[in-house]
Amino acid sequence: MHGDAYDLMEKLEPESIDLLITSPPYWGLRSYGQEHNEEILKEWLAEDESRVQTDVPPYEWYRAHGGVLGLEPLPEWFVAHLVEILQRGAAALKAEGSMWINIGDTYFARWSSIRHDGRQGLGDNPRSRRRTPMGGFRQEKQLLLIPARFAIAMQDQRWIVRNDLIWHKPNVPPRPEKDRLRLGHEHFFHFVKRPKEGRPKYYYDMSKVEPGALDVVKTMARSGSDGHSATFPTDLITPRILSSCPPGGTVLDPFCGTGRALSVAAANGRRGIGFELHEPFHQAATANVAKVVKATAPPQQRTTTKRKKKTEE
Ligand SMILES: C[S@@+](CC[C@H](N)C(=O)[O-])C[C@H]1O[C@@H](n2cnc3c(N)ncnc32)[C@H](O)[C@@H]1O
Repeated sequence: MHGDAYDLMEKLEPESIDLLITSPPYWGLRSYGQEHNEEILKEWLAEDESRVQTDVPPYEWYRAHGGVLGLEPLPEWFVAHLVEILQRGAAALKAEGSMWINIGDTYFARWSSIRHDGRQGLGDNPRSRRRTPMGGFRQEKQLLLIPARFAIAMQDQRWIVRNDLIWHKPNVPPRPEKDRLRLGHEHFFHFVKRPKEGRPKYYYDMSKVEPGALDVVKTMARSGSDGHSATFPTDLITPRILSSCPPGGTVLDPFCGTGRALSVAAANGRRGIGFELHEPFHQAATANVAKVVKATAPPQQRTTTKRKKKTEE
């Protein structure tokens, strides 16, 4: 579905999703073709003199004033908006469902660069510079720990964290910094619902995870497809989909990009629903999923279609 996950989450049937798996925009990296209002912090503060920078506007206000998810002036705003959007999908997730969220970290810099797309340091993507307000933990050279802040904010909304899976990317490009190690991992959090009473119970097929089943998975970051460079690696998400969604169940990716999670779901006998704001990615996702559905249609169905054609001839 083409649109903003914030709106589309509300259209889902209650208790209809087995697995929500996604990789949202990360903070302060890419615009994904959206125009962002860089004056938004000033506008928010000007509306009410008693406000301070870290008072977060609701996502609806933010979007109405030209704000783009991932380009919030402060990481605190980003974390709050991401949690707000995911919370809108909570009722649609079955009680025994799972949420897997892949999120990477960012270093703070007073002056930072935003790309339309592309991994940091990979490719020659156009970028724009912007100034981010300093204060509190937002200091030069600081690793912002956004994944941890996000996971804690989710815990505060009653979610239970079952795993903080580390995606180890052995092929990250070289960096110019001479005073720190290269960031070679991202987080993939597994959240489940906290029941009103008792311990959480959720679907999990342990026979479908990686052999050895550690919470560290080594997978190359690849350059992506259809002009989108943050594409999910198939080998990272296939075990998550097979172990956290029963056969015939429904997978939701609310920031689906070119639809990799949906394609993997379709190729493995699961249904898929995806949301994407950027129209070219939405079209690419639709085409990619259609290809997989066609290729994996049961042989019976294909034979029937052929026979039908012959009879018609
Ligand atoms: C990190 S990428 C996801 C890539 C995806 N996992 C794949 O394999 O192609 C995040 C995606 O979210 C989309 N997006 C950003 N804000 C959105 C919003 N509010 N609603 C829906 N999609 C959004 C971006 O256009 C981008 O394609």
